[in-house]
Amino acid sequence: MAGFREAQGDLRLEGVTKTFGDFTAVDGIDLEVPRGSFFALLGPSGCGKTTTLRMVAGLEQPTAGRVMIGDTDLTGSRPYERPVNTVFQSYALFPHLTIRDNVAFGPKRRKAADASERADEALQLVQMASFAGRKPAQLSGGQQQRVALARALVNHPEVLLLDEPLGALDLKLRREMQVELKRIQTEVGLTFIHVTHDQEEAMTMADTVAVMNRGHIEQLGAPEELYDLPRTRFVANFLGQANTGVGTIKDVEGDHLVVNVLGTPVKILRSRSQVHEGDVLFGVRPEKVTVSRTRPEGVGNDVRGVVRDVSFLGVATTYLVDMPSGATWSCYEQNLDVEPLDLRPGDEVWLTWNPGHAFGVPTEDEGSLG
Ligand SMILES: Nc1ncnc2c1ncn2[C@@H]1O[C@H](COP(=O)(O)OP(=O)(O)OP(=O)(O)O)[C@@H](O)[C@H]1O
Ligand SMILES: [Mg+2]
Repeated sequence: MAGFREAQGDLRLEGVTKTFGDFTAVDGIDLEVPRGSFFALLGPSGCGKTTTLRMVAGLEQPTAGRVMIGDTDLTGSRPYERPVNTVFQSYALFPHLTIRDNVAFGPKRRKAADASERADEALQLVQMASFAGRKPAQLSGGQQQRVALARALVNHPEVLLLDEPLGALDLKLRREMQVELKRIQTEVGLTFIHVTHDQEEAMTMADTVAVMNRGHIEQLGAPEELYDLPRTRFVANFLGQANTGVGTIKDVEGDHLVVNVLGTPVKILRSRSQVHEGDVLFGVRPEKVTVSRTRPEGVGNDVRGVVRDVSFLGVATTYLVDMPSGATWSCYEQNLDVEPLDLRPGDEVWLTWNPGHAFGVPTEDEGSLG
């Protein structure tokens, strides 16, 4: 069998669990990350993202389960034995070394004869070659971040772990680095596992997003899939905005479920609901809802509401509308017409949406505290 460092292939977590005392931080995660893909682990603070990464890196050993790359079982091996490198949020560079020597540090320690050349190559990749002779204190935060990335890439890891690496950057730089990271990943073709609690960041960068909650994975898929068809209440609310309501399934009409919401029938496409009897939480995304002054004919679902707020954003207008259920819905209308709707707070409106755009999930998440 090849050594741990030579391991190649898809990264696989099998039933990976981590407990600290009687607290379960990571709860039996099964996960497969195809080689060369950009994978995001997205979830709220404390859900177990860093703990999961640390087990992949070997900085923490699982209480149960296995970490594999291809056919190689890495469980129990030391961090330096694994073909894995991590870029952390705080990217402490050695202040007394030049940028080139910072990046060459790993290869030099492993006695690589071409350490400096490899450092220059890695610096080129992150577009920092012209800064090679400077000291870290002479760089901006974003530039230091790039150097930290080069320092990990120079080791040619099979898997690169990124734990909130852009957390310390301001918004504009963050957006730039997101594009940059994606470019670098495509160029080097390594497996990237990016941890973030920023849903926009996860959606814009990753091929696959795993939404994590309380130590387990709620749902995994392409960003478009998760946004379009969330399977749990948690995912519906964590990824993008969702307008939701709770009702009771009363009937089936062809391909549709008919849900009674406070006396108003609401239709959901049967194939887009995780629940087929009893109570259901239905949801529809803000851009899928149309706001009208008068009741449109034949759209499917319509509910009357009262405008609470109007925000003109230039390309679009966002309306907050108070619904009969007491919920406030958010509706995003592109400003395609020259004639504006001219709505004001207090105006009565009709909200309509295509039943094929709604989704249905259980009203309570499994294991939720309620
Ligand atoms: N060494 C430890 N001992 C005890 N509890 C720990 C330890 N490490 C982590 N935890 C707990 O495990 C849970 C998950 O922690 P983790 O750092 O993985 O969360 P996270 O998803 O990375 O959160 P954040 O977004 O805030 O970084 C937390 O409740 C944390 O307090
Ligand atoms: Mg963390």
